[in-house]
Amino acid sequence: MALVPTMGALHKGHLSLVERAKDECDAVVVSVFVNPTQFSPEEDLARYPRDLDGDIATLSPPGVDVLFSPSAVDMYPQRFETFVEPGPVAASLEGACRPGHFRGVATVVLKLFNIVGPDVAYFGQKDCQQTLVVRRLIEDLNLDVKLIVCPIAREPDGLATSSRNAHLSASDRQAASVLHRSLRRAEELFGAGETKAARISDEMRRVLAAEPRAKVDYVAIVEPALLQPIDLVTPGSVALVAARMGAVRLIDNTVLGSAGTA
Ligand code: PAJ
Repeated sequence: MALVPTMGALHKGHLSLVERAKDECDAVVVSVFVNPTQFSPEEDLARYPRDLDGDIATLSPPGVDVLFSPSAVDMYPQRFETFVEPGPVAASLEGACRPGHFRGVATVVLKLFNIVGPDVAYFGQKDCQQTLVVRRLIEDLNLDVKLIVCPIAREPDGLATSSRNAHLSASDRQAASVLHRSLRRAEELFGAGETKAARISDEMRRVLAAEPRAKVDYVAIVEPALLQPIDLVTPGSVALVAARMGAVRLIDNTVLGSAGTA
């Protein structure tokens, strides 16, 4: 049995996980839970898009066996006090920009695994660091769950589909494809033989700087195991970018040399 954990406002990225799970497993559970513990107080928990009726409609053509949509008090009753604290893999990048985020993710994912009891769990490469945190969670806590990581689904202009895209203004939506363009540039340079990470990340920053609406949080070229910075790029190294467009924060990444993830 498969679990596809989500926070709802389902889009074609989520659906690609659901389709894959349906292809590979006899039963599919989709969870929809906007997990408060992975948002810091100044983040967008209150305005995170919620549309359970829309989600039910979105899931009806593929059809799933169970839609699990607990309430916040079901998941975190008043006396709740036990958390999972991820290690160094959660410290950099998203972990540095969003302190406590992965503690909330690891905690809710473990709870969902315990409640649903899946054999297989489907996650998206879109949240690259999250997949590493979940992989460590599974290994370190001896969970009997197989992790499958699915490719990034994109809009026609390359923007990675995200529940947060709905909050972009028209101009920001247009400008948002710059994240993908910066990753394509990284692919292009690496494909043309450039291996110096600094050269590639400088060039990514140059592409991003041409779009002043994008406020860059980070550009990084890292190795895939712990997401540590590297000097020399090899196939499998990951280029990541995070930027804010107005109040909306977007992330994207590509695995370099992987034949066009971006
Ligand atoms: P959410 O952002 O709703 O994403 C649910 C799953 O869909 C994640 O595994 C995410 O990586 C994947 N996903 C999102 N956009 C995608 C895209 N464009 N292409 C492919 N997959 C995509 O990630 C979370 O929720 C939460 O942190 C969660 C794991 C549910 C814990 O609360």
